[in-house]
Amino acid sequence: MSESTVSAAGLADPAGRRALMAGVDAVPGSAKPDPILEVQKIVRQFGGMTAVDVDHLEVQRGIITALIGPNGAGKTTFFNLITGFDRPSSARTGAHWSFDGAKLDKTSASSVARAGMVRTFQLTKALNRMTVMDNMMLGAQNQEGENLLKSLFKPLWARQEREIEEKAKDLLDRFKLLEKKDDYAGSLSGGQRKLLEMARALMSDPKMIMLDEPMAGVNPALTQSLLGHIQSLRDEGMTVLFVEHDMHVVRHISDWVVVMAEGRLVAEGTADTVMANPAVIDAYLGAHHETDLGDDELLSDDAMQEIAQEVAAEAEHEGGKS
Ligand SMILES: Nc1ncnc2c1ncn2[C@@H]1O[C@H](COP(=O)(O)OP(=O)(O)O)[C@@H](O)[C@H]1O
Ligand SMILES: [Mg+2]
Repeated sequence: MSESTVSAAGLADPAGRRALMAGVDAVPGSAKPDPILEVQKIVRQFGGMTAVDVDHLEVQRGIITALIGPNGAGKTTFFNLITGFDRPSSARTGAHWSFDGAKLDKTSASSVARAGMVRTFQLTKALNRMTVMDNMMLGAQNQEGENLLKSLFKPLWARQEREIEEKAKDLLDRFKLLEKKDDYAGSLSGGQRKLLEMARALMSDPKMIMLDEPMAGVNPALTQSLLGHIQSLRDEGMTVLFVEHDMHVVRHISDWVVVMAEGRLVAEGTADTVMANPAVIDAYLGAHHETDLGDDELLSDDAMQEIAQEVAAEAEHEGGKS
């Protein structure tokens, strides 16, 4: 394979992919060797308040990037904007973003998903009243299921439906939810719901998965499993972009960290680099003093349990706000 082919397909070896980041400048908006997502001048205002003002961001293909920042920094709004669930205020003044070479500026959420960039969704009331399996089938809609033309060719559709069902079962098995397939989604534990959200997002074979606080409300037993799943997705070649509050978790699984504060990118780099960055410390201290920027005692089971408990307590404390 030529070098460009390797780059286009993503290096098979995850360590190799991460090694590509060694030469990347630890500055906001820095160029990446093989960006899958490129964002230019995305601004979102609510009334007079600027929630997001990202001048330039590149997300490297095939690694785990964490998006961190204090509450209200604009992380969720940024996710909504780039996945087509919200529109930038700067739409007419130079907002551009592209995913895997395709322009997404004016693209609907379903087209964004078809392009291969998928975000997870919290189970809403309606989804809770559906079975686990039906939730999975819904996740496949971004493929061909909704295509009217296809439904005219019934045999083709029926075959595809069987294939989709098989795929759903494989994914449920992988996420240890197969036994729950006929249960209502609403009966799942907090952690199982997060697993279902992830499994459902994978039904459309994304190239990049975006997770907004995937550990919130997850019990200790499942936190490690969730982290393991996220790492496996990366190891299989998927790009992961995730928002996470717990700095221990961020240090544990991120290959690269992007920091937002007051809508802007204030730092980028490895976890160690950004957590030692005065601008990041200031951003957190300005927002809430008690944040612990994490240490390296992460790999033991005890430490992981502790993290999970902290996160669960925090989620409970924040009472279902998202
Ligand atoms: N729909 C909305 N209407 C008005 N203000 C909003 C809306 N969504 C978010 N905001 C505000 O935008 C800022 C960024 O919010 P958000 O993106 O949720 O931050 P984060 O996810 O980093 O905690 C906050 O000040 C929030 O109150
Ligand atoms: Mg948020």
